[in-house]
Amino acid sequence: MIKFVARFLLHRIGIAIVNQYINDQLKIMSAKKVSKIAVLTSGGDSPGMNAAIRAVVRTSIYHGLQVFGVSRGYNGMIDDDIFEMYSRSVGNIIQRGGTILKTARSAQFFETEGRKIAYENLKKRGIDGIVVIGGDGSFKGAQKFSNEFDIPCIGIPGTIDKDIAGSDFTIGFDTAVNTAVEAIDKIRDTADAHDRLFVVEVMGRDAGYIALHSGIATGAENILIPETKTDMEAMIASLTEKEKRKKLVNLIVVAEGDEFGGGTEVGNYIKEKLPNADVRVCILGHIQRGGSPSCLDRLIASRMGYHAVECLINGTHNVMVGIEDNKMKYTPLDNAVKAKQKISEEWMRIVKILAS
Ligand code: F6P
Repeated sequence: MIKFVARFLLHRIGIAIVNQYINDQLKIMSAKKVSKIAVLTSGGDSPGMNAAIRAVVRTSIYHGLQVFGVSRGYNGMIDDDIFEMYSRSVGNIIQRGGTILKTARSAQFFETEGRKIAYENLKKRGIDGIVVIGGDGSFKGAQKFSNEFDIPCIGIPGTIDKDIAGSDFTIGFDTAVNTAVEAIDKIRDTADAHDRLFVVEVMGRDAGYIALHSGIATGAENILIPETKTDMEAMIASLTEKEKRKKLVNLIVVAEGDEFGGGTEVGNYIKEKLPNADVRVCILGHIQRGGSPSCLDRLIASRMGYHAVECLINGTHNVMVGIEDNKMKYTPLDNAVKAKQKISEEWMRIVKILAS
């Protein structure tokens, strides 16, 4: 009986594998053949974007495709600032921050007229596939564009904010968080020397991941993020209790987009409520966006860039290439722009318990 069931199951699994293989092959055969790819970086820059550009360019060339770079995000598509790239165009950039293609947030591309001009500029070169490295704003543009014109777009999540569903990582987040940790460690030294309370503002207009990760890693007493309700009274009560216990060195990490306000607002509020506390505010700002990418960012950028081109070739179109549980994950651009990653309740509990 067991033998029979095992044979039956093996037979069914075999059929499923063969079916999957046939479906994949049919998809590849029926996919619109892509022969000229454009790559651009859009939105806020993030360390590792260069590594992703390099991967897109070299994978395209490996497959015999022609590849074009677009300057300054979608603006370059509209201004016709598009140029052919070669293997050597991306030499010696894997370790560099910023983006050799430059980047921008293009208001014009959100106008129908702007997208039409962009399309004409791509069409005259025969460009039939686009790879956009950027955040959710950039993906919204890509999604609109591919709905209107018959050019498939692939998104690669490049933002220090890590605020895109469908990927455990976004290119640049790891580097930005490490930059923040290094800076906060230094702030702790001086805070400790003077028995001061420091409010450190990190980036994250809509997302608290940089604050959460860097705050836990530096032993912050409080972490204020846009995703959770900020209870300032409870924070003041806990600081007062710590003052009584003579715990005078306190670090509060706040994401710039916290609902209460950024570092300055939080610092002013604490000064008003705790006049005896020696409070200083430090805004880390754009240093979080620059610098040589970490190993992790170079690695994920290389994997995502490679798979983005594979997607264009094999017909997995209009998706964002992400990585979940160390496996590639392809999320339709539609879903990637709608959902955000969820803040782990476990992590928030850890913050509370370890901050005593
Ligand atoms: O989107 C990434 C990000 O770094 C946000 O965290 C930040 O609010 C924003 O960009 C800053 O943008 P800009 O450089 O245009 O001021």
